[in-house]
Amino acid sequence: MCGIFGYIGKNNAKEKLIEGLENLEYRGYDSSGVAIVQNGQIHIVKKAGKVCVLKDELLQSDLDGHCGIAHTRWATHGLPTELNAHPHTDSKNQLCLVHNGIIENYISLKKEFNLTTKTQSDTEVIAELIAKIKEKDNLEKIKKACSFLKGSYALAVIFENEPDAIYLAKKESPLMTTYGEDGIYISSDANAFKKYANNFYILKNNEFAKIKNNDIEFYNKNSKINKKLNNFEKTFSFENKNEFLMQDEIMQTPDALKETALFFENFKNLKNYFDNIDNIYLIGCGTAYHSCLLGKKYLEFLNIPIFSEIASEFRYSNVKPSKKSLCIFVSQSGETADTIACIKKCNCKTLAITNVPNSSITFNCKKTILMKAGWERAVASTKAYCCQLLVFYLIKCLLKNEKPKWKQLVSSCKKYLKKNNIKDISKKVLNFEKIMFIGRQEDYVTAMESSLKLKEISYINCIACPSGELKHGTLALVDENTLVVLISTKSSLHNKNLLSKQEIEARKGCCFVASNIINSEIELPNLNSDLMPIMSILPFQLLACEVCISKGYNPDKPRNLSKSVTVE
Ligand code: F6R
Repeated sequence: MCGIFGYIGKNNAKEKLIEGLENLEYRGYDSSGVAIVQNGQIHIVKKAGKVCVLKDELLQSDLDGHCGIAHTRWATHGLPTELNAHPHTDSKNQLCLVHNGIIENYISLKKEFNLTTKTQSDTEVIAELIAKIKEKDNLEKIKKACSFLKGSYALAVIFENEPDAIYLAKKESPLMTTYGEDGIYISSDANAFKKYANNFYILKNNEFAKIKNNDIEFYNKNSKINKKLNNFEKTFSFENKNEFLMQDEIMQTPDALKETALFFENFKNLKNYFDNIDNIYLIGCGTAYHSCLLGKKYLEFLNIPIFSEIASEFRYSNVKPSKKSLCIFVSQSGETADTIACIKKCNCKTLAITNVPNSSITFNCKKTILMKAGWERAVASTKAYCCQLLVFYLIKCLLKNEKPKWKQLVSSCKKYLKKNNIKDISKKVLNFEKIMFIGRQEDYVTAMESSLKLKEISYINCIACPSGELKHGTLALVDENTLVVLISTKSSLHNKNLLSKQEIEARKGCCFVASNIINSEIELPNLNSDLMPIMSILPFQLLACEVCISKGYNPDKPRNLSKSVTVE
């Protein structure tokens, strides 16, 4: 959530910052801003709205400097206005800074230090606080100020009295820096500067950096430290072929699945990690939680208790995994705050399933299975969800000593994405006020994920319901303005599902069926039942995307949302 970018080097900082912000816009796009040092003076430009608004303004300005910091915001405290956008300054303009994270005690800090602020943002309090610290040295000022902060932060700071330096501080929110080919780069996501560097440094909690004279010095609370460089994971690059990233990312699913399956060979030694456990907790948020629900189905054969948990709930529940539990954390970004908070509650075996190497989740878990879905930037998770399910399927095959049949899955997905009728279906969907997705067992989870996808990018009020639960309440919603999408991929349950269709039609609701069993509105290829949920979500990812685009919205940047939810 929120993106930080910084550059100090021989080239034009303005262009670097614009490019960086465009790369990071998936993390937030309410407002954005830059601070650029020109002739020793800090100049700030901020704008409400998407990065393109700021870009237009910057391109027209004659700002010209070699050092700057930038931020794209997802509002937590205060409206997404120009005033609340970062960078923030102290009242005497001694410094400016950009911040990711949340300062939980900003109200009490204001009282304690008698700080006055002009914005509604928690970030401005950090600027005021640093300015108030008496230490002469800028690094010491930051260190001291950070010792009062509660919550999470990644900070990049420029001081008026030292305009050729950028200072960094980090706790919980990600922050990276690197020597690039033409200067030093800073970002909250290393992918944003990957083009210019071969490796990079990751700041750990309570670490600081001073970037000056083409040199990066790292510090912890007490002293200067040496840090090791991290390499970028080799990942295959995908081409952008469509207008929107989400369209590209759905189309990349077959390749993402193939790469993930091939890379899974590296994790076969994790088989023993499943020995001597009493139970399994599967923990994630949103789409990743849906993967956990299906993960439970894949692992049920183990015949031990398996619990799928929503991270934001589990972190506050009284349940604590025992020493003989295995906790599996699923997160595309590896940075989801609620999921990370749950890891800290576990004193047992912990395993991350993530798409992002060197992410917070990989540092906090004892073991990691890395997926190879490639960079996912559209806010709605698509190819990563399919890869998460594939990983659970591959774990099942590994534990059962069965040969996985992922090649079949890849070719079916490829064929389906090439030829399907979702464009036509999407036109019909637009005629309904209410949409419901129903199904049983694995298909119910697909219904939940389909409903989430559609609502999050097309803003249609839709719900998911287990088919058998309809008549226990939800059927009351069905009338001639309701479309119910029935997902039916399990032949043993198909006749039961058809009863639900009749119940809906008897109430004048319209029912579309998605099935591999009978001729239906959405025809699915026939696959082994373990592979079916990985494939059967594709029509609904496509559907959400089509509906969104025909309503004139941008699927990559749905309102109110952001990729990588690094705050609670
Ligand atoms: C929905 C979506 C979100 C994420 C959730 C967890 O399309 O993408 O629900 O799945 O915010 O994110 P990660 O997987 O990064 O932990």
